[in-house]
Amino acid sequence: MATNITFHAGSVSYEERSQLVGQKGATVWLTGLSASGKSTIATALEQHLLHKKLHAFRLDGDNIRFGLNKDLGFGPKDREENIRRIGEVSLLFSTSACITLTAFISPYVSDRQLARQLHEAHNPPIPFIEVFVDAPLSVVEERDPKGLYKKARSGEIKEFTGISAPYEAPTSPEIHIKTDEVDVEGAVKIITEYLEKQGLLSGA
Ligand code: ADX
Repeated sequence: MATNITFHAGSVSYEERSQLVGQKGATVWLTGLSASGKSTIATALEQHLLHKKLHAFRLDGDNIRFGLNKDLGFGPKDREENIRRIGEVSLLFSTSACITLTAFISPYVSDRQLARQLHEAHNPPIPFIEVFVDAPLSVVEERDPKGLYKKARSGEIKEFTGISAPYEAPTSPEIHIKTDEVDVEGAVKIITEYLEKQGLLSGA
């Protein structure tokens, strides 16, 4: 093991960190309707990457909306702030050489664009991979695992995405997965192959 190693003055650069930990960071941004499969795919992908000995971490409602963003609701301004913070947090994780998986509806094009721009403005730019987790409203409403669509239809939940609040679908995502046609393993394979092609799974 090398002993006489020193760092440059100041903070460790992204490249240096990537080389030292043997991995490049990137953000995989999953967007789609509630119950489209974002968290399910992110969870499976996280496990898959960890088993390949890659440092991966999932940000979703469970660890963000119950913690950092517990002061935010679902009105347009709060959703914007939700996604702004997640954009910043995902950038931090990714610059730490982690493959960061975010699973949020993120219904507005402008908010997702802002998250992308943050990553692109970093020196060097951090890969930002937008994944459209796509399922028709009729399908997610049929799935309705938490009974939220039913409550939204009856008016018990206001401003529910797809019912009484908009979802602006990505027009040119890096990856488009139709979850009424592709199963979870299939989705993990599609994303993994993309990451592989980008050289993000092969060490720094
Ligand atoms: S986002 O629009 O701000 O990106 P986020 O992904 O964090 O939303 O949270 C969405 C999850 O919160 C849904 O999957 C659902 O379980 C729950 N939820 C509660 N109220 C709403 C609502 N009004 N619209 C959408 N999802 C809601």
